[in-house]
Order: sequence, then structure tokens, then C-alpha cells
Amino acid sequence: MTSIKERLLKTVVEPVSGGKNKITIVGVGQVGMACAFSILTNSVSSDVVLIDVMADKLKGEMMDLQHGSAFLKNARINASTDYAATANSTICIVTAGARQREGETRLDLVQRNTDIFKGIIPQLVKYSPETTLLIVSNPVDILTYVAWKLSGLPKNRVIGSGTNLDSARFRFLLSQRLEIAPTSCHGWVIGEHGDTSVPVWSGVNIAGVRLRDLNEKVGTDQDPENWGEIHKQVVWSAYEVIKLKGYTSWAIGLSISNLAQSILRNMSSVHAISTLVNGFHGITEDVFLSLPCVLGENGVSRVVLQQLTDTERDLLQKSAKTMHEVQSGLKF
Ligand SMILES: NC(=O)c1ccc[n+]([C@@H]2O[C@H](COP(=O)([O-])OP(=O)(O)OC[C@H]3O[C@@H](n4cnc5c(N)ncnc54)[C@H](O)[C@@H]3O)[C@@H](O)[C@H]2O)c1
Repeated sequence: MTSIKERLLKTVVEPVSGGKNKITIVGVGQVGMACAFSILTNSVSSDVVLIDVMADKLKGEMMDLQHGSAFLKNARINASTDYAATANSTICIVTAGARQREGETRLDLVQRNTDIFKGIIPQLVKYSPETTLLIVSNPVDILTYVAWKLSGLPKNRVIGSGTNLDSARFRFLLSQRLEIAPTSCHGWVIGEHGDTSVPVWSGVNIAGVRLRDLNEKVGTDQDPENWGEIHKQVVWSAYEVIKLKGYTSWAIGLSISNLAQSILRNMSSVHAISTLVNGFHGITEDVFLSLPCVLGENGVSRVVLQQLTDTERDLLQKSAKTMHEVQSGLKF
């Protein structure tokens, strides 16, 4: 007897399986799942593959998302411990690894996560040689360098989420103080994601009006209005959220989904993301730090050259030196 499917459907051509917007997410912890949820609910991709070493958790997360499919745009959601399932991914997002413990700095994590990356990055590139890697695991700038080294991919295709999140936190805090939407508060945090990040106060503006033109001390220790506190809060934010709820997830998930969208839609939009900065702003080391980058289907195509003050430039160079020192102690 012919099946219901055969009696119901007459094939015209076989449906295309998979698409050009396939995204792999490695690590289905708090961050990986927040990325997956944001990517799916914003319809950034219709083909998401999850990878992890914990088979049960992985299957559970996949099933839970699949059960929401009726409320999505029929995205394919797969999961596997085998990297063959990731083949031909346009973007591979890496969130796997140990996360910061309360009070632990991002740099303390570095060797632990480098060792984990040795088992992940070559596998991703083997199955998706044309992919763009989007690194999220911490310390993100150093691990982006590690991923670049392990992958053999060109520098434009290896990106760290960097200070995209720090800039978002900065804009949120500006928005709270000014009572203006964060999308209308323009400000950039560059350099290292984390403790030595650099707020570019010289460029902070609303509708082209620079805060520095209204208060030349803005962001400095001599500022009577103490705007510099906002950046201190940005740095402190992650520690505070981790202290309160154990991890951070929603904001990083949203920021990654936003980056993935820029790549898949070839948007040429500008984001503060971690890129190879040797040669920029007097930096002479092979390190990855965040600068405003033009992001599209080729990954990072251009870097915006901000007019930095001497202090901002010095801070950036100091960050580069810190990164370089840590990198030189790494065992590959
Ligand atoms: N860049 C940022 O702005 C930012 C923000 C938040 C968190 N993070 C970082 O993201 C990472 C993940 O954080 P989390 O809270 O999701 O941690 P988590 O512990 O909840 O999840 C980590 C996941 O990685 C998996 N994993 C470990 N080794 C693996 C391997 N070899 N292959 C595949 N999967 C593996 C684990 O099984 C786990 O599911 C951390 O390094 C954290 O510091 C970065």
C-alpha cells in the first residue's frame, strides 16, 4: 500500500536541503543557547547546527528548540557531537569552554580554553573551509588569535565578538542617564573586551553633538559630572551579572545574532569587533583587539580609523602589550 505521504504529495523537484545561511554554534551552555535563541527568533538563519561534547544536554536543547519550530519560520535545527553535521556552515560561532568563575579574570581562563580550541577549530575548518569564525569564548581577544592560528583562515574571516557587548552596555548606560534610546546614543568602546577596554569619549555624541564639546573634561578624572563612572560600570557589569545570576547570556546572545545578521546579509555595517590590529594606531604586535570594523559576507572588509586622542591611543597600545604578553606564554 502506498503511504499517506506518497498519496498526499506529488514531487515536482526534490526540495533543496540546506541553504547559504547555515550557522554552527559550538557549545550549548548559557551563551551558546542564548545565541541560538536570538538567531532563530530574529530569523537570522534558517539552518542552525548545535555542537557540544555533552550528548544528553545537546539533544535536550535541540529538542526543546525544535518544539518551538511552529512559532519560527521553519528553521532546520540539528545537533550532533560529530563535526560532519557542521559541513558548509557560512558562520561558525564558538562559545565552548570554561566560563569565568566568580572573581576570576578572563585572562585566567586562557590556557584552559586554548586546549579546548585545539579540538574544535581544526574540525570546523575541515568541514567548512570557507567559513567565517565568530569567537565568543573568553578571553575572547586572545582566543580569536588562537583560532586564527589554529584555523589557517585569512584574518578577515576570524572575528571575535570583542567589545561589541561592551559598546552596547556603554550605550545602554548613556541612554539611562540621558533618557534617550540606546540606538540614538553613539559611543564606542574599543580595545580589549574586559578590564582594559578603552572608551572613546572624544567621539561620544547624540545627533552629532559631542559630549566633549559641552564638557571638555567628560570621561576624565577631573570631570565634575563623573561621566567616567559609566565606563567603570561597563567593565564591572560582567562581574556583577555573574555574581548575581552566575553567568551572562541574553545581551551577548543578542549581540552575536546582530553580528551574524550583518555577515549573512552582507550589510557592511560597522561593529566594534576583535580583529588583527597590527599596524593600526601604532600597534606593532600580532594581537586581536576591537576597532570599529565594516562587516559583511567577507567578514571584516575594512577598519574605521577613529581620530583618537593621545590618551586613548596610549590605552590601546597598553592593551595590545598586555595581550601580547599573555599570548607569548601560550602553549599551542
Ligand atoms: N565574549 C563575550 O562577550 C562573552 C560574554 C559572555 C560569556 N562569554 C564566554 O562564553 C563562554 C561560554 O560561557 P557559558 O556561560 O555558555 O558557559 P557554559 O559552561 O554554560 O557552557 C559551555 C559549554 O561548552 C561546552 N564545551 C566544553 N568543552 C567543549 C568542547 N571541547 N567541545 C564542544 N563543547 C564544549 C560545555 O559542554 C558547555 O555546554 C565562556 O568562555 C564565557 O566566558 C563571552
